[in-house]
Amino acid sequence: LSEDCGVFVEFHGILMDKRFTKYWNDVETFLARPDDLVIATYPKSGTTWVSEIVYMIYNEGDVEKCKEDAIFNRVPYLECRNEDLISGVRQLKKMESPRILKTHLPPKLLPASFWEKNCKIIYICRNAKDVVVSYYYFVLMIMSYPNPVSFSEFVDEFMQGQVMYGSWYDHVKSWWKESKNPNVLFIFYEDMMEDIRREVIKLIQFLGKTPSEELLDKIIQHTSFQEMRNNPSTNYTTMPEEMMNQKISPFMRKGIVGDWKNHFTVALRERFDEHYQQQMKECTIKFREEL
Ligand code: PPS
Repeated sequence: LSEDCGVFVEFHGILMDKRFTKYWNDVETFLARPDDLVIATYPKSGTTWVSEIVYMIYNEGDVEKCKEDAIFNRVPYLECRNEDLISGVRQLKKMESPRILKTHLPPKLLPASFWEKNCKIIYICRNAKDVVVSYYYFVLMIMSYPNPVSFSEFVDEFMQGQVMYGSWYDHVKSWWKESKNPNVLFIFYEDMMEDIRREVIKLIQFLGKTPSEELLDKIIQHTSFQEMRNNPSTNYTTMPEEMMNQKISPFMRKGIVGDWKNHFTVALRERFDEHYQQQMKECTIKFREEL
């Protein structure tokens, strides 16, 4: 992938959707409110899952309330912009407080106002090999994204940071540095898969609330992969097919740890791991299993 494909532009060192950058001033000058909550991720790392959990926490487990609208309206995507059709900024400006929003921006591109107002931020990190697999299926079904020729070609692009939002390594490393900030909670997809109760308690406490057994049970039930896959307000099926063709691959695809094992050849794995070690050698981040 390169700038020549017409969809992306090199923007502050990462590849970005040209449509997003056209009105960047609106993002850059975005006025945060102190009680805004930011859910930040590299794409395909568990954004939707955590968004739904947080929405449940904010609404004290009211499932019906959560089903009133699609997740992308309840938790707007800050930098998303498609001329006058879609604008995360516009959606957010209209929203009452407290707002929850999603972003895939690296910390240096997050509007300054969020830092100035000391907004709480949750960053979800997922292991690189599962991210690249999930991302591959995602780009196949996102109609505006140029199709990669093959999985291994896409892995190469990912390793070079030639995918939307650039290098996974840089994204994770730069957010990891922010994790010392008490307003930033850094969590792992793999930890959520291992013990969702423990991680939901962490989220509730970070939001300054006290977890009750009843609320925990409701959240865990409502945000399981099965439930979210069958729920039109979380599975993106209300998004027009011209944008997202779920006949090619469903948004709620597998929701497991280690699907990379079904996609990487031994040679590809070796090449990927070697590059990974180089990229991450100075980073103290540790994943739960050897991933
Ligand atoms: S996006 O487009 O960047 O916002 O996508 P994102 O939501 O970050 O990531 C999508 C992947 O998360 C999986 N997912 C879940 N896994 C487990 N449990 C639940 N409840 C859940 N909800 C979403 C989703 O299936 C995508 O991963 P893959 O590996 O493709 O299945």
